[in-house]
Amino acid sequence: MSTRIADWNGLPAVYVENEFSEAVVTLHGCHVVSFAPRGSREVLWVSGKSNFADGKPIRGGIPVCWPWFGGAGQPAHGLARLSRWIQTGSTETENGETVLNFAFVPATEEFAFLLANMKITVGKSLTLELKTTNNGEEDYKMSEALHTYFSVSKIEQVSITGLDGVSYTDTLDKTEKVQQGDITFSAETDSIYHTGNAAKIVDPEFYRTILVEKGGSNSTVVWNPWIEKSKKMADYGDEEYHEMVCVEAANAWSGAYILKAGESHTLMTRISEIKGI
Ligand code: BG6
Repeated sequence: MSTRIADWNGLPAVYVENEFSEAVVTLHGCHVVSFAPRGSREVLWVSGKSNFADGKPIRGGIPVCWPWFGGAGQPAHGLARLSRWIQTGSTETENGETVLNFAFVPATEEFAFLLANMKITVGKSLTLELKTTNNGEEDYKMSEALHTYFSVSKIEQVSITGLDGVSYTDTLDKTEKVQQGDITFSAETDSIYHTGNAAKIVDPEFYRTILVEKGGSNSTVVWNPWIEKSKKMADYGDEEYHEMVCVEAANAWSGAYILKAGESHTLMTRISEIKGI
């Protein structure tokens, strides 16, 4: 295995290579921007229009939305994705996987009682474990996401399985619905599924299935901005909605939870590529 710190689009990043896969994690946001199993194509997606700068979110990869999701606070999706993290460890497991550790405490005094520890395991799968500790004296209402942008061949051909029969909040019309069958895409989609279960992204043209497992997660967010919203986002190309889909392990909206004073909680996602559909 090897890990080295090098530049990634002007940001310092940890580059990992081992017998199973390659990955890149920027210290800005503790942001996984690349993951490719050996012999396979890139699993993650990053916009050609993204900013790569301190204080700005990266559009793509795995933004860490913490310690709130979406508009539950300001700035949207929290402080972690805008801030520099500290790398606290780099080790190899017995079977040759690489484990990276990072930590972050908000510089804002109001949230400095919260600690984030991230463990990233790079192997055949990519596993992120985001542990939040409430070091304060009061309970905190926590929402969060590992907001993964997946690379797909063509969004119109892709389906997401594993969420049939699951209830969800359609955030576009703010109604509660129940998923009927697999998810397919033909319009803007921004839904919060109320489930702890895994989902799969089935991509016939890339002839692969991506398994998204999770733990400590009440919600799965499925997002594609489609045509009009794409045009409104400065850091996102007008036609890029064809190439990506977000499937996010989260605790969001009604899935937010109370993190008691002195306690910790871990949100986990494990991403695996399966050849074939
Ligand atoms: C998704 C949200 O998780 O993130 C969407 O459900 C949001 O509502 C999207 O538009 C992107 O958010 P941002 O802040 O990175 O533009």
